[in-house]
Amino acid sequence: MKITMVGAGYVGLVSGACFADFGHRVTCVDHDPLRISELERGEMPIYEPGLDLLVAKNVKEGRLRFSTDLAEAARDAEAIFIAVGTPSRRGDGHADLSFVYAAAKEIAAFAHPEAIIVTKSTVPVGTGDEVERIVRAARSGVEFAVVSNPEFLREGAAIGDFKRPDRIVIGTLDQRARDVMYEIYRPLTLNEPPIVFTDRRSSEMIKYAANAFLALKITFINEIADLCEKINADVQQIARGIGLDNRIGSKFLHPGPGFGGSCFPKDTQALVKTAQDAGAPLRIIETVMSVNDARKVKMTERVIQACGGSVQNKKIAILGLAFKPNTDDLREAPALEIINGLSSAGARIFAYDPQAMPSAKKLLPNIELADDAYSCVRGAEVLVIVTEWDEFRALDLNRIKKLMQLPVIVDLRNIYRPKEIFDQGFKYFSIGR
Ligand code: UDX
Repeated sequence: MKITMVGAGYVGLVSGACFADFGHRVTCVDHDPLRISELERGEMPIYEPGLDLLVAKNVKEGRLRFSTDLAEAARDAEAIFIAVGTPSRRGDGHADLSFVYAAAKEIAAFAHPEAIIVTKSTVPVGTGDEVERIVRAARSGVEFAVVSNPEFLREGAAIGDFKRPDRIVIGTLDQRARDVMYEIYRPLTLNEPPIVFTDRRSSEMIKYAANAFLALKITFINEIADLCEKINADVQQIARGIGLDNRIGSKFLHPGPGFGGSCFPKDTQALVKTAQDAGAPLRIIETVMSVNDARKVKMTERVIQACGGSVQNKKIAILGLAFKPNTDDLREAPALEIINGLSSAGARIFAYDPQAMPSAKKLLPNIELADDAYSCVRGAEVLVIVTEWDEFRALDLNRIKKLMQLPVIVDLRNIYRPKEIFDQGFKYFSIGR
């Protein structure tokens, strides 16, 4: 099939490359000529494992191309996906839909009358209705079908999530549009993932409810971890003990410094706004947000306590800046809050991250960036593990201890077992144990 993807950001690029890999012919369109020329040279605007190879392969085999020309790309596409950004609107937390609506208007001007228009961006309930209104108003006489097809991709694992989804959600009551969408996803149906055909509004809501529930699950285990510390229980055991109950499930029960990233903070906020506007406030999600925000700030306090109550003029080594491993994304990363807190308390910060250093240079100009984990800890009075990159899981602790000023580790991701660290002669602080 011929597919046009509007927006060559994270979602558009991963989805476009994966669709091409299924055998469809895909054009990824972006307004930014710099981004398009980089992509044409094979340079990825984001770090996502496997994406560069997938893009290169499909470009080489003639199924994937990049363009700034929406008019040309939309003309004979059977499906046009909107995968542009929906940032939080400055000041009020609502999702900013101006990019979605602008894309819709432009698509309407050029699309084939039989093309279906599919929203992949995360958009509040009712956005599809507005997109439909916009495209029909822009091309009178053409009854474009507008479909909601939310993505559930995790950064760092996006290609796997796309190719082996837990489910595919398709929101439209239009039978022809459903048939086209089924055809697009048919290569995936060999593995038989459930396809949820539903109405458009329910589809939009599924995405927000899924993210809000996952954010809730993380926040739940984080609070249980705090309680475990007070009553001398082990949160890892609790997570295992409850996760084995199929009704609960073992995933997303890993305690840490609070969730971050481009989705959970923004999407919980947008959902809370939608719920308030609709007169059905989601008090539980409002609480999740405030507990999570407070948690990131509280992590600073933990580090200060581990340093004996003051970090004034002390060198602190931070391992991991990205909001999670396998990405270079610093959006809403707990590391930012922790570093700001520690810097304000007078600490000297040295940090290392396997991928996020270029973005860290811009966002955190006042900290020192090290070339690797070992040079980062040299002379430090405390080592704080903020992101659980694989390369931090088996550090040479003997070497670390020799390099540090004092042997103190704060492990905010529980990647070490307390006993193995104590045995090496470290003071060790983790989460909920
Ligand atoms: C998330 C959703 O998983 C994905 O389906 C959606 O489409 C986009 O948002 P992403 O933000 O890439 O994906 O990362 P995810 O792996 O879900 O982690 C989000 C945050 O939660 C990270 O800060 C992570 O460290 C944290 N987290 C996750 C925990 O603290 N504990 C866990 O058990 C899981």
